[in-house]
Amino acid sequence: MRTGLSGSTRTITRRQSFAAGALVLGGAATACSSGDEGYDALAEALSAPAEPVTAPFPRSHQQLVRYASLAASGHNTQPWRFTVSDPVIELSPDFSRRTPVVDPDDHHLFASLGCAAENLSLAARASGLGGEVDMEGERLSVALASGAAEASPRFDVIPQRQCTRLEYAGSALSAEERARLIAAVEQGGQVSATVFDGAADKTRLTELIIQGNSAQIADPAFVRELRDWIRFNEAEAARLRDGLFAASSGNPQLPGWLGRRLFGLVFTADAENAKIARQIESSGGLIALM
Ligand SMILES: Cc1cc2nc3c(=O)[nH]c(=O)nc-3n(C[C@H](O)[C@H](O)[C@H](O)COP(=O)(O)O)c2cc1C
Repeated sequence: MRTGLSGSTRTITRRQSFAAGALVLGGAATACSSGDEGYDALAEALSAPAEPVTAPFPRSHQQLVRYASLAASGHNTQPWRFTVSDPVIELSPDFSRRTPVVDPDDHHLFASLGCAAENLSLAARASGLGGEVDMEGERLSVALASGAAEASPRFDVIPQRQCTRLEYAGSALSAEERARLIAAVEQGGQVSATVFDGAADKTRLTELIIQGNSAQIADPAFVRELRDWIRFNEAEAARLRDGLFAASSGNPQLPGWLGRRLFGLVFTADAENAKIARQIESSGGLIALM
């Protein structure tokens, strides 16, 4: 990871966008400027409300990177690097953050990069800073230009968006929610959505997902790789600022050394499959994007 300025171009990552905050960032990001921040303070700063970017370069671009880095990523690996210059922010893959067992062809890695580019583009557009995304080889870039700010509910919720690993409320999707979900997926005309919310579909999909999950958990390399991305307590999560926080899946916090030893014993196909069945049962349905 490179942190230094080199001319007007610098490369920063999610983790560094906070470490570098002491030098140039303001607002929420500066609140996270030291490496040993408490978990609660860090979580609060990360979820500070989204504000359109108004600062001049380079602070403006670091704030845009902050929004980009709140994107979803497989195993929360945050496999991206941002190279910031005046008219363009480039996103390139950080292959040191690959998960070769679960994602041997880097499909998830590049999907994660796309999620970060989308957030960056949303933040730029909401700030009146252009935001056109381009792709060349393995690199994505977001072009910045002055223009009209576009109000955007999708920008507003960037700091609140999260995946859940707990059970759902058990309520069915209304016809309107279903239609809005499908419209949201299909709006770009490149992806189609199929919703499975009938009881028979959910049962069949539960069986298939459990088969796949059982096969993954039977592979010691998969379990080891997953274990290495688990953050077993708040201190680990706050220090590394990546990975999967055990408590967000409803697990007790443990010292890291103990969590890593116990992981293979408690992370069993039976326990995980039962959890998956409860999650699907309590959900409004599943949606496949193709
Ligand atoms: C390409 C991609 C694949 C993912 N695959 C899974 C998955 O198989 N299982 C899962 O529980 N979460 C999956 N996630 C969700 C990530 O674990 C989640 O985005 C990450 O932990 C960050 O948490 P957040 O989205 O709440 O910010 C995936 C996310 C992305 C972008």
